[in-house]
Amino acid sequence: MQLALLLLLLVGTCRANDFFGDLKDWFDKITAPKEYCNREWITLDSKGVGKGLEADLGRNLFGQHIASEVIVNAVTGFMNNDNPKKPLVLSFHGTAGTGKTLASQLIVKNLYKKGMDSHFVHFFNSVINFPHASQVETYKSQLQLWIRGNVTNCAHSMFIFDEMDKMHPGIIDSIKPFMDYQYKLDGVSYQKAIFIFLSNAGGKIITQTTLVSWKAGKKREELKLEDVETALSSSVFNYHGESYVVDFFIPFLPLERQHIVQCIMVEMVAMGLQSEHNKACEMADKIVIYIPDDERRISVSGCKRIASRLKNFM
Ligand SMILES: *[C@@H]1O[C@H](CO)[C@@H](O)[C@H](O)[C@H]1NC(C)=O
Repeated sequence: MQLALLLLLLVGTCRANDFFGDLKDWFDKITAPKEYCNREWITLDSKGVGKGLEADLGRNLFGQHIASEVIVNAVTGFMNNDNPKKPLVLSFHGTAGTGKTLASQLIVKNLYKKGMDSHFVHFFNSVINFPHASQVETYKSQLQLWIRGNVTNCAHSMFIFDEMDKMHPGIIDSIKPFMDYQYKLDGVSYQKAIFIFLSNAGGKIITQTTLVSWKAGKKREELKLEDVETALSSSVFNYHGESYVVDFFIPFLPLERQHIVQCIMVEMVAMGLQSEHNKACEMADKIVIYIPDDERRISVSGCKRIASRLKNFM
């Protein structure tokens, strides 16, 4: 009786939904099986990962034929190697909304059973996690301890750094040794870890290259990594001075109207609407800005915040 009263009171005061939601989260947490650093929780078979990743990228990442191919090859190649000489370091470059975050999430999804919830996946955003220049020394030592601690716990750890172009150079320097060719650093081996950097740096050059190639009458799909790579690595190299630890610089091309239409169709389905192509085309012209002014060829913000733009519009 007293318990029932107490419950009633609790429900009355805490807004029932929140209360039961929290209770459910807590219950799920304590009953969920523990995640281990082994094959049951991490897919270590390169063929399986390669196939799944290729399919996922094909279905969800629009307009990125170069990035998709390089990512699949880089990840499967790394996993095929029983004794890699260094951790895998990927650097994603492109303007906003081109799919860098999405691509990193798809890699995570195919490697870790718990996806982004995995304890072995660590996500940092320079602006949110390391905002104050005055605290760089603290961030440096903290981050080094975290990387070391987590890789000691699980060699197959992954570290994703977003907004890398806004990261303090001192912090970048402090994590370089982990990504280098070293058999061991203080007794810990980092060779099985994966580092992914997401950055807008180089985005302008990629856009220019794409436009030039288009004006020369080339199809988008004919654009190759080599066409973008040189310009990209030199511009990014100046930026970070980190190029020697990066294994693959991966360009994300600016999106065109057809890709915006694809993103809108996906969102329509997610919102429970019918995904009509005509309607999506109409939206693609209304909710997104294209450049250059005369040609209106390339979307400025890609598929970023398409969902909220769509909602606002409707
Ligand atoms: C692992 O990294 C997280 C940050 O993602 C940190 O909070 C945690 O303390 C680290 N664990 C170890 C053992 O260092």
